[in-house]
Amino acid sequence: MSEPYSAKVVDHVHNPRNVGSLDDANVVVQAGDPSCGDALVFFIKIENEVIRDIKFLIKGCGAAIATSSIATELVMGKTLDEVLTLDDQKIATALDGLPEEKMHCSNMAASALHAAVAQYRSTIAGKTMPVS
Ligand code: FES
Repeated sequence: MSEPYSAKVVDHVHNPRNVGSLDDANVVVQAGDPSCGDALVFFIKIENEVIRDIKFLIKGCGAAIATSSIATELVMGKTLDEVLTLDDQKIATALDGLPEEKMHCSNMAASALHAAVAQYRSTIAGKTMPVS
């Protein structure tokens, strides 16, 4: 049987980056996938529209762990406008692809990050929420 996951996915499943919580997070967002019941929480420290630090906790499948892990690497140090350009396809591409039936797992991380931007801008930064 051929391996359905790329070497990068396997690496992130076995060695997930930025796992845990952040005591000094100023944005905490959750996302869930109703189709499987899995759930993800991001703890994020945002300063001046830049992600200074991010960690995550998850109850999910291997693909969800890998996509959340690489998503933290992709957004670390990035501006919130850059975060809004990240979607499920880009996360999957960064992992050298995901099986089609696992694409919904990467959507969980992307939607949570977009919600984090909206939460920060609508509360802490006092800006209007972006129309998506
Ligand atoms: Fe639930 Fe992957 S099967 S997030």
